[in-house]
Amino acid sequence: MIASPEILDEVAGLRLELERHNRLYHTLDNPEITDADYDALLARLVMLEDTYDLHSPTSPSSRVGAEPLPGFTQITHEIPMLSLDKVFDGDDLRAFEGRILKRVEIDGEITYSCEPKVDGVAVSLLYENGVLIRAATRGDGTVGEDITHNVRTIRSIPLKLSGRGFPSLLEVRGEIFLGKRGFAHLNEQARLDQSKVFVNPRNTAAGTLRQLDSRRAAKVPLQMYCYSVGLHEGGKLPDSLDGVFISLAEWGLPTNPQRQVVKSIDRCIAYCDELLSIRNALEYEIDGAVIKVDSFNLQSAIGTNARTPRWAMAYKFPAEEKSTRLIDVEFQVGRTGTITPVARLEPVFVGGVTVSNTTLHNMDEVARLGIRIGDEVVIRRAGDVIPKVVRGVPGSVNPNPRPIVAPSHCPVCGSSVEKEGDVLIRCNGGLVCGAQRKESIRHFASRNALDIDGLGERIIEQLVEAELVRDVADLFGLEASTLMNLERMGAKSAEKLVAAIADSRRTTLPKFLYALGIREVGEATALQLANHFGDLSVLQEATIESLIDVPDVGPIVAEHVVSFFANTANIALLARLQECGITWPKISVASGESRPLIGQTIVLTGTLEKLSRNEAKARLVALGAKVAGSVSKSTSIVYAGPGAGSKLAKATELGIEVDDETALLGLLQSLESSLKSID
Ligand code: IVH
Repeated sequence: MIASPEILDEVAGLRLELERHNRLYHTLDNPEITDADYDALLARLVMLEDTYDLHSPTSPSSRVGAEPLPGFTQITHEIPMLSLDKVFDGDDLRAFEGRILKRVEIDGEITYSCEPKVDGVAVSLLYENGVLIRAATRGDGTVGEDITHNVRTIRSIPLKLSGRGFPSLLEVRGEIFLGKRGFAHLNEQARLDQSKVFVNPRNTAAGTLRQLDSRRAAKVPLQMYCYSVGLHEGGKLPDSLDGVFISLAEWGLPTNPQRQVVKSIDRCIAYCDELLSIRNALEYEIDGAVIKVDSFNLQSAIGTNARTPRWAMAYKFPAEEKSTRLIDVEFQVGRTGTITPVARLEPVFVGGVTVSNTTLHNMDEVARLGIRIGDEVVIRRAGDVIPKVVRGVPGSVNPNPRPIVAPSHCPVCGSSVEKEGDVLIRCNGGLVCGAQRKESIRHFASRNALDIDGLGERIIEQLVEAELVRDVADLFGLEASTLMNLERMGAKSAEKLVAAIADSRRTTLPKFLYALGIREVGEATALQLANHFGDLSVLQEATIESLIDVPDVGPIVAEHVVSFFANTANIALLARLQECGITWPKISVASGESRPLIGQTIVLTGTLEKLSRNEAKARLVALGAKVAGSVSKSTSIVYAGPGAGSKLAKATELGIEVDDETALLGLLQSLESSLKSID
């Protein structure tokens, strides 16, 4: 049907009106109409657009999502999306200004833009002639993913800019996040539907943006605050960040109401303190503040490092603390029999996740905390760190206090327990103990060990309970017909699992040694042992003295290795595993002169593009180098790829040589080929 001029006018008016209400509701938090009235306006618009075929990608009616996409397209950011250096206190913030003042001469105080550091997902929005044409994630800073379909469902993000004076091409950057209320609402819904609850708002926002089906994304009330401008052409922008924020808001883009422009670093510190004091009252999660030099001219004069601007700094807040009740303490048995007290807590939302249990480490820690079951306790969690019970709440009421008592027998198998040193308690049950059996099988099958795809915790649990598997060698005798009797295991999955178990038999010596779960022998030590001794039979005969010669192996690890191979049950298990067909490529043991990197400590950081990190590490170690996880004065060189952050910064600070992946490859190839010619 052809639309009359009146209908066209009404549609245009409804679109403007709906976008205005979107902004009032989602950005300004100041709605003028009820949700029902909004829905009625939207329904009228949808009806008119359908009847007169007036669909438009910039209409508010298009925000409900569309058919799923087949996959994500990669987007290259013409101007890389940088990351931020961070500080944790006021003195370090002053030092940040000190570094700026060494680079540029400034009369008087510097003006700064202070903003909350919103805990969400960094994105880039591209507007052409005021129309949103593309949205992308930050990705690694250079290449991100096209998420336009999902971003179009976010009501506070204009599909069309309002006002005037915007550049014809404008890239706006900012943080997309899920507010606390939105998160709580989604989880209430998930509980009602008995579906999986979401861990924290940031992961939920990230997961939502990675949906191929934008109709699902439309159900999550994501929001955004813009924090900078990237690419811009065809138009002039103000010469300060503050000016840009004012313009962005005029064009209908959401900017953070908590931002402030201040005129000295001391006021920045006061801003950070103030923001911290209102942190819990904010409707969204923040993990700190961002302090930026306000003037663009000054920003250019100060310049940027490889990954971070020198004119901006993140001020990270201390870990969040909340109090909750200690409901009970259970004792968990680990792979090597260690018994650990675990606190069961009344669920509490802290540091961005809901915590309902956490380790208390050992009985010494329990004594140090001086807590009893039923007490109110303080939980602390920072970033991605494991939540921690930090203290009891003094003076809190506990009507029915119960002491936390270490078990005298293993809570799983009832075997006796022994005390090891001052703090550890260990179950003496060995493989009699179901918990130790399950844990040792889980470790054996884990990704960095034999990597048995599909052998998850639930299946291991059933295999051990049904006594189908007593130790890891039993895995290789499993048949698909047996596995099919397990819960939720079909014929196909059973066959797949049998094939995965068979495939895992071709491994490497370092992985096999790691899989055995010898105490204190982690991946790095397993690699060193394999490269040093070359074969299992040689390692089996090694003495404490010869073990101590291996880099990274001290007397305690040496002791554990010797006692593992002195145990006849272990020797029998090794023989059975080898009978099952476990094999690995031979390792030629390098002599001193064929290990030219002996004495060098190397750190790898950022993304390696041509080599996997494990391969790079293995090849460096084979050449005699020690590959360390952190940069210190004893680091010889750092090889940094894209995305390198704090380790690169530390190396620069300590004046340690830094090179890239091409140089690393060159080094490996030249040393390896010169060794071949010696052979
Ligand atoms: S500015 C060149 N401002 O923090 C500066 N970032 O650690 C680039 N973030 O990737 C970032 N709130 O995801 C800036 N007000 C804010 C921010 C903010 C959150 C995030 C952003 C960035 C990360 C850097």
